[in-house]
Amino acid sequence: MDYKILLFDLNFDQAEQDAVIETLRSKWISTGPKNAELERRFAEMTGARHAVALTNCTVALHMALVLNDIRPGDEVICPSLTFVATVNAIRYVNAIPVFADVKSMEDLTIDPDDIEKKITPRTKAIMLMHYGGFACNMNRIMTLADKHNLLVIEDACHGPLSEYEGKKLGTIGSTGCFSFFSNKNISTGEGGMIITNDDNIYEKAKLLRSHGMTSLSFDRAKGHSTEYDVIELGYNYRMDDIRASIGIVQLDKLPGDLAIRAELRARYEKNLDRVEEIVIPFKGYKYFTSNYIFPIVLKNSTVERRNRVREHLAEAGIQTSVHYPAVHRFAIYREYASPLPNTEYAADNIVTLPMFSKLTHEQVDYICDTLKEAAAKK
Ligand SMILES: Cc1ncc(COP(=O)(O)O)c(C=O)c1O
Repeated sequence: MDYKILLFDLNFDQAEQDAVIETLRSKWISTGPKNAELERRFAEMTGARHAVALTNCTVALHMALVLNDIRPGDEVICPSLTFVATVNAIRYVNAIPVFADVKSMEDLTIDPDDIEKKITPRTKAIMLMHYGGFACNMNRIMTLADKHNLLVIEDACHGPLSEYEGKKLGTIGSTGCFSFFSNKNISTGEGGMIITNDDNIYEKAKLLRSHGMTSLSFDRAKGHSTEYDVIELGYNYRMDDIRASIGIVQLDKLPGDLAIRAELRARYEKNLDRVEEIVIPFKGYKYFTSNYIFPIVLKNSTVERRNRVREHLAEAGIQTSVHYPAVHRFAIYREYASPLPNTEYAADNIVTLPMFSKLTHEQVDYICDTLKEAAAKK
């Protein structure tokens, strides 16, 4: 199927190409000065004390759990309405994912009341996910975490520059994790970042990223050090400078990109305001957001009806997606499943519509008109 309107399109132009060529010509293509610049810029942008660039967000989430000393058998409360990587990371350290439901169709973030119900003496952390770049209820979650002495890890993949009460997402818990996968607000192909205000976590993150070695190849090539020791069981989770140089250009573009997305969201909300058959999650949202995606939820619906709506849109040339199939229903997670009615309803009845800064207002109008037709069919 050749779609007329894709779900997402890269915000790339000559600037990314020039940046890559410059890095290739520099002959330093692995972790080096471009990584350092990207990290400095990312920390500045989020207001975090530290940022460490990584291969992708999945490894950032894994490292966050290791850095926070989450151990085999520890329970980690997490959403099921997320990309599977959020939960896989918990299993990498042999901890137990305990799924909590999302609040409602209007607010698809993890429900603090359900978190509270799922806390046991074995709970060590809450791994939350700021769905679509919309903040979880951080006041409630941080209060619960303080009361029960739990660590909070933020999967902020969807929310670079998103805010909650004046703070950037990713800076409220102990560590924040971001993805630069191709379809994210910042795209480098593959890529990720971990941020923290904790100096010890930062020092250890740098070690774990590169085999637990006390110096990087770049330091040795520049004569900053001549030898190294290995003092932690680390990984190779490094980002290369080719990708980091794309990331720097993408950071320059981010504020402009998000301003356009905000206009697109406003147009979607206005066009769909009176459509009886749908809920617009986060309608009238009050904080600054990255608007990573624009989902709608069909009311009084079923998975079959949702799929017919998606087919109608596809026949009109519009690509859609589902954010997300519920993780607790995947074969490898069924043993950890518990009833999560809101998550299950959302997973069965959500449709993610196109959202990216090159989308035009005319295209948004066309998508909304087509959705109205599809939703009106029984
Ligand atoms: C919520 C969420 N968590 C984790 C990931 C994993 O990120 P990455 O693809 O960079 O490993 C993604 C993106 O794919 C995501 O959307």
